Amino acid sequence: MKFFIDTANLEQIKKAQDLGVLDGVTTNPSLMAKEGIKGKEAINAHYKAICDIVDGDVSAEVLSVDYDGMMKEAAELVKIDDKIVVKIPMIADGIKAIKALTAKGIRTNCTLVFSVGQALLAAKAGATYVSPFIGRLDDISSDGLILIEDIRLIYDNYGFETQILAASIRNSMHIINCAKLGADVITSPLDSILALLKHPLTDIGLAKFIEDSKKL
Ligand code: E4P
Repeated sequence: MKFFIDTANLEQIKKAQDLGVLDGVTTNPSLMAKEGIKGKEAINAHYKAICDIVDGDVSAEVLSVDYDGMMKEAAELVKIDDKIVVKIPMIADGIKAIKALTAKGIRTNCTLVFSVGQALLAAKAGATYVSPFIGRLDDISSDGLILIEDIRLIYDNYGFETQILAASIRNSMHIINCAKLGADVITSPLDSILALLKHPLTDIGLAKFIEDSKKL
């Protein structure tokens, strides 16, 4: 299972990379805006800075919502670095763009996926990754994890190679449950990844070992 961090914050990306378990990064326009990045040059420079920190894939989202615009942006984004995966929204023009980009050998991440039907279309178009947003489904009293389970079943039925990238992770239990259900990747805020480290019995046990080591 791959671990991606879902942020455009360079410090957090460095921290996750230093931990040694980071396989990639996902960003989106909201996360970029949160870092105060403005204008095409600054956006591209920020993507390059992210690529220079991590060893794995970096999802960079197109801002256009029409086919021609998405194709033009994708061509520019992939020039930034070999690690760039073009993030395309789940709309009709997006599916067309994923199909065309796949034919050109450009890797894609189909984003804003909330149903199995959408995930099926993304796989048919040849997306490298599909991003079901589980936290946002939970937010509206729907079960995001059922979506992961259903996509896994359908992809396995037909041998689709599109990787399930569980997104909109809100806590460490989301990560654990996605692992149980066979998601290929999770993209998570740093806090939820670090929460996997924690157990009170580890802290109590370590304190005791440190105390007893003084007797040695
Ligand atoms: C996915 O790639 C998105 O960037 C992200 O996971 C959305 O998460 P949110 O619902 O916390 O905004």
